[in-house]
Parts: sequence; C-alpha cells; structure tokens
Amino acid sequence: MEIAIHSLKPSADNHDCIVIGVYEQGILSPAATLVDVASAGVIQSFLATGDFTGQCGETQILYKLSGLATPRVMVLGLGTHGKLSDSKFRKAIQGASKALRQAQIVEASFYLLDTPVARRSPAALSKILVQTVMDSDYQFDHHKEPSEKPRRSLTQLHIHVSGGAEEEAAIRRACTEAQATARAVAWAKDLANEPGNICTPIWLAEQAEAMAQRTGIKSTILGPDAMEALGMRLLLGVAQGSRQEPRLIILEYWGGSDEQAPIVFVGKGLTFDAGGISLKPADKMDEMKYDMCGGASALAAIQAAAELKLPLNIITVVPASENLPDGQATKPGDIHKSMKGLTVEIINTDAEGRLILADALTYVERFEPDVVIDMATLTGACIIALGHQTAAVLGNNEDLVHDLIRAGKESMDRAWELPLYEEYQEQLKSPFADLSNVGGRPAGTITAASFLSRFTENYHWAHLDIAGVAWKSGENKGATGRPVSLLVEYLLHRAHHAA
Ligand code: BES
Ligand code: MN
Ligand code: ZN
Repeated sequence: MEIAIHSLKPSADNHDCIVIGVYEQGILSPAATLVDVASAGVIQSFLATGDFTGQCGETQILYKLSGLATPRVMVLGLGTHGKLSDSKFRKAIQGASKALRQAQIVEASFYLLDTPVARRSPAALSKILVQTVMDSDYQFDHHKEPSEKPRRSLTQLHIHVSGGAEEEAAIRRACTEAQATARAVAWAKDLANEPGNICTPIWLAEQAEAMAQRTGIKSTILGPDAMEALGMRLLLGVAQGSRQEPRLIILEYWGGSDEQAPIVFVGKGLTFDAGGISLKPADKMDEMKYDMCGGASALAAIQAAAELKLPLNIITVVPASENLPDGQATKPGDIHKSMKGLTVEIINTDAEGRLILADALTYVERFEPDVVIDMATLTGACIIALGHQTAAVLGNNEDLVHDLIRAGKESMDRAWELPLYEEYQEQLKSPFADLSNVGGRPAGTITAASFLSRFTENYHWAHLDIAGVAWKSGENKGATGRPVSLLVEYLLHRAHHAA
C-alpha cells in the first residue's frame, strides 16, 4: 500500500473517497464542517434524517456531492464528542476499513488527524491509522481455491495534515514506521496461521533464513547435533517424541555501534503442541499450531528493525520444536539436564515451552546482552488472569518491565505486570532434581516465569506471556501478530534515545 501526505482542502480533494469524522448528536469534526459548507449543507441534512447516529465505527458513503472534487464521501462515526479514546479511534478506523473494502474502494483520503484523542499527537494518530488500515486488510487464504472475482483492496492511502513542516515530518516518519510494523505483523500472522504440517521447525528456520537474506542480516541455524554438543538436553528432550528435527534459529542485526550491547529477543517456536505424553484434550487442539507465535513475533520484530535500519544491535533466537507423544517421547518423571547445568524433573510434558526457552535463554548469555526479552504462548493460566486483551510481563529488572509496559500502551499492544517474588520458587521444588517443570495450579503464569528466572540470572530479563493475545478463536480465528507492535515500539523508543 502506498501512503501519501497532503494538505488539500477537502473540497479540492479529488481522490476516490474522502473520509470525514462525525460525532454523536450531529456534532461535526472540523473537516466534516468544511465538507458541509462546500456542499451547501448536505452533511447536516443527511444527519437530520436520523439514519446515522455517529456511533463509533458506523459508516455511510455519500456519492457525488455538489461542490466537491471527490466522487465519494465516507461519513465515519466517532462516538461521543470529547470521549474519543485511542481504542475508540482504532475501532472507528476498523469500521472505515471494512466499509472501504466492501465498497471495493482502492484509494482513500483520511481527514481524521483533526480529531482530538486523549494524549495522542497527530503523528501518533497517523501511526494508529496506517497500522489499523493495513491490519484490517490482512487475509490468509492461499490454501483456498482462488475466487473468480479477485478482491480489490485499498492500494492508495492519503493522509491529510494541517500542521507545519515539523509536524508533517513527524507524520511522515510515523507512517514509515507504521508500514514496517504492519508488514512485520502481517508476516508474523502468516507464519503462525500456516498449519503444523507445513510450519515445522525446519520450515520456520527456512523462512527466517530467507528474511535474513532479503534484509541483509546474519543467520545461523543449529540442528540436533549442535544442540547435543551444547548440552541443550531440555530442548532435545521436548523434540525427542517428534519425527521433525528441532532447530535453533539465530538472527543477528548489527545496526548499532560496536560498543552497544545487543537487545536480545527469545521467542517460543513450538510449531505444534499436542502436550506430549501428557496429551492435551482434543477440543481446539488445532489452535496449538499457534504455539510458535512468540518465535514468529521475535523474527518479525528484527525484520522491522532491519527494514527501518534502526541504530541498534539486535539478536533474535528461536528454539523451534514440536511436542508430540511417541514411544521415544519424554515421559512424566523423566529427568533432563539443562544447558545451564540445572536438572529438571519433567512432571508434565505439556509444560514444554519453559524447557525449550530455558536452553535458549542460557544460549544467549554468549552475546553479553544489554537486555533479554522472551515472548511465549506459555500458560493457559495467563488467559484466566488477563484474558485476551492484555499480555503478562514479568522480569528481574524494573526499568525493563516499565519500558515494555510503556511500549505496550503506546502501540496499543498492551501488557501488564505480574509479580515474580522469590517465594514462588517453593512451588518448583523437586525431591529428585534441581527443579520441577510445573508448580501446581496456583499462579501458573508466575511459576512458569519463576522457572525461566532460574536461567536468566546473569542479565536483565523480561518475559511476555502472550497465550491470551497471540490469536483469536471462533469463526474469525487467526493469529493477531501480537506482540510485534509492542516489540517494534520498544525498539523505536530505544533507537530514538540511543546515545
Ligand atoms: N502452549 C501451552 C499454553 C497454552 C495453553 C497457550 C492454552 C494457549 C492456550 C503450554 O505449552 C502449556 O501446555 N502449558 C500448560 C502448563 C501446565 C501443564 C503447567 C498449561 O498452561 O496448561
Ligand atoms: Mn504445552
Ligand atoms: Zn506450548
């Protein structure tokens, strides 16, 4: 999609469709007022019919208004005047995108940066706008018979700016960042939506390598022999019940100075989680193809950073494996030794994410990281705690946790902190090994992170549990691409504040 920035008067704008905002109770946005005046009161008389309430996301296209250069005006509901939150702004844009798609409009010009949204600059709003429009256009249909009539979708997006040159430059930059982020989100969705028979550890590694080649970053892929040599018995233990070999994907983007310690992402790349011998129930088991969403977002975030040429050093490491039952699979009660040296009693083979992450988190010590951030669809308990709106963040460094929460708010890809008090370690005691891999029913998200914390003592670390946010169930099921936006926003913030 191409994005252009302009400062036309709405009446002189001759693009296919212009989008203007209207609040409830017939209150017009500044752009809507200009359109109303230019068209001799058409907007007011349309609202006077009472057919359009101005509810957030409501749309109506008006055609061929006299006094205007454009053939179409989309009136977009913005809800109650003075109560427009960033969430409502996004919801409105989603409504507009849907209506544009239904009308098969390929070019649209948005006049929405004049709508005051709590604490958001025009540049921040344009970012939400671009990302939402691009995200709304996402489809995963390449396994379906192509339809006879190919869908026409939005290819030209115009954004109206009214401020000075400085504001315009900020909006331009925001749009570039938004496009790179949206592409990364879409790629993460593509990887995750691909079923487990295609998206295997080897396939995931190939996709990562292809991206690395395209963006000019370094890639290294390790297989079972290299893992054996490194002593990654936890990762190998999860993979040993599978016909598919595990892979450790390592990507390195060195865009910063030599002295800068790297930011390291570690993403859970479990390409299908049947639970192993502790087999999961059949209901919705198909969704366990999404158990690699953490890995996908770690790959996508470094892609965005490379595309934007951020002045940072970034490493992404993805342990990729299946978790299946088999005669050779790890059994409950088995004890495996981690790369770090700690032994783990595997009480439940379905608590596999923490095992593959533990070895990956040990592996990344070699990079002498500034910070390490891992993301994983780690616990069902996280969905109970925070639902599908908010990811959990836990860590051993207050500033890092704070930075991630801030990035989540800014990108509307939100995360909230759960505590990691050392008392939770009690629940991970085993009579036979250094650690048990499960901590019982209470505080399942916290005990999973507590397990990880035993492998992250040597650096600043935070963990994002994305089990609730990484995909949607139901008829519109699919990956969400979260937390790619959060991660990219974290990187942008680091880049803007780099020395
Ligand atoms: N991938 C799952 C977590 C999960 C479950 C994510 C449901 C999204 C929806 C993870 O590997 C897992 O199975 N966790 C277990 C841990 C338990 C055995 C301690 C869980 O949450 O039930
Ligand atoms: Mn599991
Ligand atoms: Zn899992």
